Amino acid sequence: MTNIKELLVSMDYGPAPEANDHVKTWLGHHAKGIGHYIGGAFMPSSGGGSFEVHNPANDTVLVRVAEGTAADIDSAVAAARKAFDGWSKLTGHQRARHLYALARLVQKRERFLAVLESMDNGKPIRESRDIDVPLVARHFYHHAGWAELAETEFPDHVPLGVCGQIIPWNFPLLMLAWKIAPALAAGNTVVLKPAEFTPLTALAFAEICQEAGLPPGVVNIVTGDGATGAALVAHPGVDKIAFTGSTEVGRLIRQSTAGTGKKLTLELGGKSPFVVFEDADLDAAVEGVVDAIWFNQGQVCCAGSRLLVQEGVADRFYAKLRARMETLRVGDPLDKSTDIGAIVAPVQLQRIRELVAKGQAEGATLWQPKTQIPGAGCFFPPSLFTEVEPASTIAEVEIFGPVAVSMTFRTPGEAVELANNTRYGLAASIWSENLNRALEVAAKVKAGVVWIKCTNLFDAAAGFGGYREGGFGREGGREGMSEYLVHRAEKGGVAGKDSPAFVPSASPATDSHASEAVAIDRTAKMYIGGKQARPDGGNSYAVHGPAGSVGLAGLGNRKDIRNAVEAAAKASGWGAATAHNRAQVLYYVAENLASRGSEFETRLRTMTGCTPNEARDEVALAVQRTFWYAAWADKFDGAVHATRTRNVTLAMYEPWGVMGIACPDEAPLLGFVSLVMPAIAMGNRVIAVPSSRYPLAATDLYTVFDTSDVPDGVVNIVTGERDVLVKTLAEHDEVAAVWYFGSQAGSAMVEKAAAGNIKSTWVNYGRALAWTDAGAQGRGFLRRATQVKNIWVPYGE
Ligand code: NAI
Repeated sequence: MTNIKELLVSMDYGPAPEANDHVKTWLGHHAKGIGHYIGGAFMPSSGGGSFEVHNPANDTVLVRVAEGTAADIDSAVAAARKAFDGWSKLTGHQRARHLYALARLVQKRERFLAVLESMDNGKPIRESRDIDVPLVARHFYHHAGWAELAETEFPDHVPLGVCGQIIPWNFPLLMLAWKIAPALAAGNTVVLKPAEFTPLTALAFAEICQEAGLPPGVVNIVTGDGATGAALVAHPGVDKIAFTGSTEVGRLIRQSTAGTGKKLTLELGGKSPFVVFEDADLDAAVEGVVDAIWFNQGQVCCAGSRLLVQEGVADRFYAKLRARMETLRVGDPLDKSTDIGAIVAPVQLQRIRELVAKGQAEGATLWQPKTQIPGAGCFFPPSLFTEVEPASTIAEVEIFGPVAVSMTFRTPGEAVELANNTRYGLAASIWSENLNRALEVAAKVKAGVVWIKCTNLFDAAAGFGGYREGGFGREGGREGMSEYLVHRAEKGGVAGKDSPAFVPSASPATDSHASEAVAIDRTAKMYIGGKQARPDGGNSYAVHGPAGSVGLAGLGNRKDIRNAVEAAAKASGWGAATAHNRAQVLYYVAENLASRGSEFETRLRTMTGCTPNEARDEVALAVQRTFWYAAWADKFDGAVHATRTRNVTLAMYEPWGVMGIACPDEAPLLGFVSLVMPAIAMGNRVIAVPSSRYPLAATDLYTVFDTSDVPDGVVNIVTGERDVLVKTLAEHDEVAAVWYFGSQAGSAMVEKAAAGNIKSTWVNYGRALAWTDAGAQGRGFLRRATQVKNIWVPYGE
């Protein structure tokens, strides 16, 4: 037998398996299979089908679960709809009591849930026990709090209705908590579809709902695969879809929900940079890599899978990392000393193998430790690729396995460039002992979560979610709650006002070159990069008032939009200007608009036929609203979240960058101002498409912008056929967000076109907003003009 002295030298330790008898007993009770949880009861699939759920560590069948059909989804949505009325009418306090009860029961069953999760998913028990399940309880407690506070903290907001939620297999119970807790706290009911590989903790949670006395139908769980998920997405009775999973499926969901009015949040893939500067504490950074890419076998959307190491320390760092990799233990997930458990399923293992082979074929150097890998089950060794080309496949695509891909950089500028050289933008981790440098890089990295000298930290109080193709929307904290609520003004809207879109046609006067000189004189031009520009096609269209033609407007085309996007992209200094500077500029705009008020009133009257009083009110409100957003420019503060001890978690609002805004026909001046002002107040640059029917109030603003020190390219205006122009904006990769106020068909088109690079969109589905009402101005506009970046900074020795 080995003596203690020898053990201290080798640091070997024997197996320390966690008992799983209680889970086996539970599975034994369900030996006939587990049904869907619908309307408070378990029931088989309407089609009678079921499928096996496997333990990936030893390829044994754990149990069979029901295969969800479209009819099952239908029953679940009906149950959720039936429960909605009662649930949403409970007081916040009553809902809080329910969430609190769920949290308590999760805590009571912590061990059972952790073991079940490890058996179903293959993740090490240390993680399910110490990270996943405690965070699940934390999430329900935190959101019990939001239920209590929702009425006062979100005044004038109401729940959305029935939420369809589709979750992946990497954090099965945790993702369920991230989805269900905020939805319920806000007063919604849910139909949740767990991933086909890992449905068991969701079904155990359904039992908890029963035991906690949650009203039937508030939570419904339907098991099944992608087809079941697609049926949920397509169901007309669903008001919101919340999805976490692959970018490919996220894109499909964006396309299939386009125009339906379903609210959508997407939490998608990542290829997150892990940046090591030469002044970093290299030993700490090595431990960071372990947590970044070998946590949960690397099957983590925010895994630090792209190591970027400063050249001067790269060799030393890799040597330390390899030495540490030799000590990682791969094996039985239920063993408490296992570091790396099983990959979720053979198909995923195969995918990892193929990508690793591709990396080798592309010339990168693969290194794996001599770690023993179990002969059976889905296991893959920790792997490190060095000498990776930034443009190679493994540097670009998500491997979703225990494989780190490493590159080197020379300067901080190069680090930022490499870090942002990805279509994703979920997370980043930065390692430097120089906090100035780390924070500077944190500010420049395009990612929803930035960890400084730490990685993969999560908390219910901090929003989580991506930039760019990492998805949109946040889960957790105040931001997460607002994804499950809607302002009363928007929920009601003015239904049935979706008149056919106005389609301008080229004015004959400008169709021929001969008449161009005459036409240009009378034609309001485009406003691009701070200059008035002729429409690329040279065409214009007639703007008609009640008493006939009131002038001509340029008929913009794709080229005009592209020029405007280019001008906006160049004006990036606006986002970096101080909020005070931006406020000043908005105040000038308000002042200059006010001083020319009567001119704008006349324009509105002759163009739209409104009464003098209506014109006066519209101009006065446009001035007031501009002042209001000027006032907000330096007050829309972020937050310091109460997450962990010894950690400052900063929630910073950042502008999207370049935004496309299609303005409504109603209130042609006020609608324009109500949308463009909050966007630029927050530091965005805008390409605005004014009302097609009444564009001249917006084009009159050129001179107001010129005299108000609005920097060139911050506001660009392209007139013409709204839907044609906006389509180009929605498809443009440089445009990060699109707001659209027009027709139902146009809204659908924008949402569909925006799926390309997973742009954030805000559309009105053809429901006119009452622009003169208080609801057409508010913090909600500022929130939509920004995205939140959470920066985690630990402190202390
Ligand atoms: P997936 O995106 O296909 O699956 C996620 C969930 O979506 C599952 O519940 C699945 O049943 C459901 N689903 C699949 N097709 C659907 C459809 N058409 N409509 C509605 N729901 C649908 O992910 P998959 O195939 O399991 O994994 C493939 C890759 O996706 C991974 O290798 C990884 O790169 C990425 N992934 C990212 C995750 C993340 O957390 N961001 C989680 C899981 C996978």
